[in-house]
Amino acid sequence: MTKKKRVAILISGRGSNMAALIEAARAPDYPAQIVGVFSNRADAPGLEIAAAAGIPTAVRSHKDFASREAFDAQVQSILDGWRAEIVCLAGFMRIFSTAFAEHWTGRMLNIHPSLLPLFRGLRPHEQALAAGATEHGCTVHWVIPALDEGPAILQTRVPVLPGDTPDSLAARVLLAEHQAYPKALAMVARGEATYAP
Ligand code: GRF
Repeated sequence: MTKKKRVAILISGRGSNMAALIEAARAPDYPAQIVGVFSNRADAPGLEIAAAAGIPTAVRSHKDFASREAFDAQVQSILDGWRAEIVCLAGFMRIFSTAFAEHWTGRMLNIHPSLLPLFRGLRPHEQALAAGATEHGCTVHWVIPALDEGPAILQTRVPVLPGDTPDSLAARVLLAEHQAYPKALAMVARGEATYAP
């Protein structure tokens, strides 16, 4: 097998998608290895999961930096230290400066819990229910400077069921996310999915 791609994961919270990626990457034939997990929040529960899995972690609060650019430069130097080749955003709640996003374009992925371009931004499950959607799902997509935009790599659909609440729908989508993200990262790491603007 060709050399595993070095992947860093950026989180801000729970880290269940991060955990799914770490778990998938344990398989000997998985084409990527997780070389570090970064959080902009010291209290992100995902940090402990990463540390318990033996993955290096780093934390910097964006509040300690004078500008978005200064924070992003710090993140960049941490990613460089890990020699990351691909960045996976997994519940990372920060918008990047254009320069950072452009630097990683074609090498940075995100997962959003909706069938983009539907229901961008916050509370996508509430948005889906309010719109009367009969199906919903998740999208793994390339990250470009605009929020929740960038071409899709993989989408997974789930049904919206009678009586669904935002929470019940989110739980169903989350299970799909945990399948979709490792699959999409494998496609990218193998060069089967490449960025085309
Ligand atoms: C997920 O629903 C993801 O799609 C969205 O934020 C949530 C993060 O959850 N971007 P987790 O931290 O991966 O558990």
